[in-house]
Amino acid sequence: MLKTHMCGELRTEHEGQVVQLAGWVNLRRDHGGVIFIVLRDREGLTQVVVSSALSPDAHKIATEVRAEYVIEVHGVVHKRPAEQITPEWPTGEIEVEATAIKVLNTSKSPPFYIYEDSPVDEALRLRYRYLDLRRPRMQRNIILRHKVVQFIREFLDQHGFLEIETPYLFKSTPEGARDYLVPSRVHPGKFYALPQSPQQLKQLLMVAGFERYFQIARCFRDEDLRGDRQSEFTQLDLEMSFAERDDILDLVEEMFTALIPTVTPEKRILSPFPRLTYAEALARYGSDKPDLRFGIELVDLTEAMQNSGFGVFSQTAQAGGQIKAIAAPGCADYTRRQLDELTAIAKGQGAKGLVTLAFRADGVKGPVAKYLSETELAMIAEKTGVQTGDLVCVVADDRPDVCARVVAASLSALRLNFRDQLGLVDPNLMAFGWVLDFPMFEWNEEEGRWDAAHHPFTMPRPNNYEAMMADPTAVLSDAYDLVCNSYELASGSIRVHDPKIQMDIFRVLGYPEEEARSRFGHMMEAFSYGAPPHGGMAPGIDRLVMLLANEAGIREVIAFPKTTQATDLMADTPAAATERQLKELHLRIVE
Ligand code: AMO
Repeated sequence: MLKTHMCGELRTEHEGQVVQLAGWVNLRRDHGGVIFIVLRDREGLTQVVVSSALSPDAHKIATEVRAEYVIEVHGVVHKRPAEQITPEWPTGEIEVEATAIKVLNTSKSPPFYIYEDSPVDEALRLRYRYLDLRRPRMQRNIILRHKVVQFIREFLDQHGFLEIETPYLFKSTPEGARDYLVPSRVHPGKFYALPQSPQQLKQLLMVAGFERYFQIARCFRDEDLRGDRQSEFTQLDLEMSFAERDDILDLVEEMFTALIPTVTPEKRILSPFPRLTYAEALARYGSDKPDLRFGIELVDLTEAMQNSGFGVFSQTAQAGGQIKAIAAPGCADYTRRQLDELTAIAKGQGAKGLVTLAFRADGVKGPVAKYLSETELAMIAEKTGVQTGDLVCVVADDRPDVCARVVAASLSALRLNFRDQLGLVDPNLMAFGWVLDFPMFEWNEEEGRWDAAHHPFTMPRPNNYEAMMADPTAVLSDAYDLVCNSYELASGSIRVHDPKIQMDIFRVLGYPEEEARSRFGHMMEAFSYGAPPHGGMAPGIDRLVMLLANEAGIREVIAFPKTTQATDLMADTPAAATERQLKELHLRIVE
């Protein structure tokens, strides 16, 4: 090795030792006869002192090195004089007096500072990702990710899980997104699909008798990208045979409860993880991935406003619509502009408008307040628990088919807005929660058919299968999500292992028998050879590390992510294929 120690390693107990360090020049300060070089490697920083009097050759080289040069330093460890100690650095009490320096490589002047975490345009960071990854924040994030994955591997190994790889070149494994297709050279006109998750394969591994499987699996989904979504991302994919729902929830809860204090001791968790049904999550938080770190819960005013003096409320209630509200603490003095911003947030989620009621010491204020009787205001106050100084936000929607969705989405968005505006949450609290009993099917308005709310291999809740063919609307599934701080961190379900139930689900989804057989015949066939009862789950590793690293997006915890346009700015991907490649793949580009 070109180094005896890492740059974060030396302490006062190493005083007098002859050492050899190697790394990047973080900073260089030239004080004439003495040059200070801050040397950086993965583990930290060490100050190197180069004196022209003591080491003229090393000093000559030191005058020439620049930021990001790669150098090797030979020298002796000294204690720093008291006034020169840098307490923020673990190595801040020592420095290395250089006796020799060797330049291992030079560097062009980097397009942004590496040594500090100052804001840099993201496109530039992604174009020079290898330099961006040298920066302390990214090094921390990627190292944290490594620790998370190592912990998970160890934990699952101890719990009897086997790590098994599954193919990337496979058949369409739908999770609700478009597939990435790979043309076959050998079979003209045929394509592999990159799996959106290893869902089918992990179930087949249960049929194969492995009983407990996991994989740190890459998944591929051609969908619109955003802060918490990438076209290729990583799941901890796991599956268990002979397990019931609570066995899976307990295992995953135990894993996260042990993981968090190990990798991020500064984080706290709520233990045990609260459990909510999907219906309860929507009713109380307006979202199936609620932030459980704070209150501001939704209350239903529909019944109370049946005969309201405010026409919009009474008509909405009588038309089978919905009226719900939240109370924001201390916001009664919001300005016109602030209230307009709240209205814009609600409208952004499809609401027709927003009614605000400011509960001030001198009465309830707001454009609608005068239409509401004392009794109505008292009912609103009682239901919302509003205090003087608070602001009540009410969303009413009279469209029976969409009101529940619009009211929930608007109030949920407002709730999260108050969270951020009012600083209501502790960023170091990881508020995990289970969301259970999802609907089995969702009506797809555009295509006029039912979609599987989770995926088509999900079992209906006990006693729900019988009603499924008659009325898919009310059927609940044995699917569950793990949510944390307003993100869906993991999803899973108990699976169908009976070919008849599986075929019936395909029927509700409107797949002609022919299509079901050609797409999923291998699954149905496998189920007919003694498939054990099984279920599983898949936490998203990127989202988990993002939350643990206090980052706002998953690109910050992925070494080489794509932009929101699904491009790689460093390698300039995707790129055109050559004529020859296209020919070999039997493809022609049609403009
Ligand atoms: P699902 O599609 O809900 O379930 O995905 C599980 C978890 O994967 C993460 N995730 C993503 N992360 C980053 N970018 C994306 N585009 C993306 N899509 C999903 C989320 C999500 O909770 N096979 C099932 C799991 C199962 O039933 O066992 C599945 O893939 O954290």
